[in-house]
Amino acid sequence: MKPTLPQIPDRSARPGFFVSFEGGEGVGKSTQIQILKNKLIELGKSVVTTREPGGTKAAEAIRAILLGNEYHQLTDRAEALLFAAARADVVANVIDPALADGNVVLADRYLDSSVAYQGYARKLGSEEVKVLSLWATRGLLPDLTIVLDLDPIIGMNRVSSPDRLESLELNFHRLVRNAFRELAQNEPNRFLLVDASLDTNEISNIVFDEVQSRLAL
Ligand code: TYD
Repeated sequence: MKPTLPQIPDRSARPGFFVSFEGGEGVGKSTQIQILKNKLIELGKSVVTTREPGGTKAAEAIRAILLGNEYHQLTDRAEALLFAAARADVVANVIDPALADGNVVLADRYLDSSVAYQGYARKLGSEEVKVLSLWATRGLLPDLTIVLDLDPIIGMNRVSSPDRLESLELNFHRLVRNAFRELAQNEPNRFLLVDASLDTNEISNIVFDEVQSRLAL
């Protein structure tokens, strides 16, 4: 059965600006989010950061199941539903209200992680997983998605104590990387693909230039 996209409400008039950061393991998302946050605050912007899965009491409880090494029997579909459930909760309780209040929201992972990890790498189907997430979030898409692109051999080397997903074989992480690259290529207006092997400052300048031009700062 071919899934149909849910009706997406028009949030184009929302005063806030929504940036998601995506990529495989160990690509440096949290460092870049922190740097961008500081630069935006210096310019007088109010910034809200989130990380997925997590960000609300319920989403943190779901995170413990999703990443816990004791849940090896979790099925791929249950995993996809739990990521979507956690996302539904953080969007309704944190992200949507922050955007309505005019904040810049910087999200450490969002819907494209589900499309890449569950849709492509778990092979559940990228369209199906995207539709599930759009249903969960009532159609909320980022204004800008930064993909930090890195060879998973380098990224996985930076992971010290692997969680349930980080413990998956290298080939899984290769599929994730290719998925993000494909997503970025297919939607060039929303995505910016950045070479995460560059040095931290260079990456942060590329990211800031893009945000600045989109926000007309
Ligand atoms: P986390 O420890 O936050 O990893 P990272 O620092 O790399 O972001 O764990 C998040 C893990 O969950 C990571 O392996 C990616 C995975 N994930 C999915 O598989 N699907 C999703 O929708 C999201 C948000 C994360």
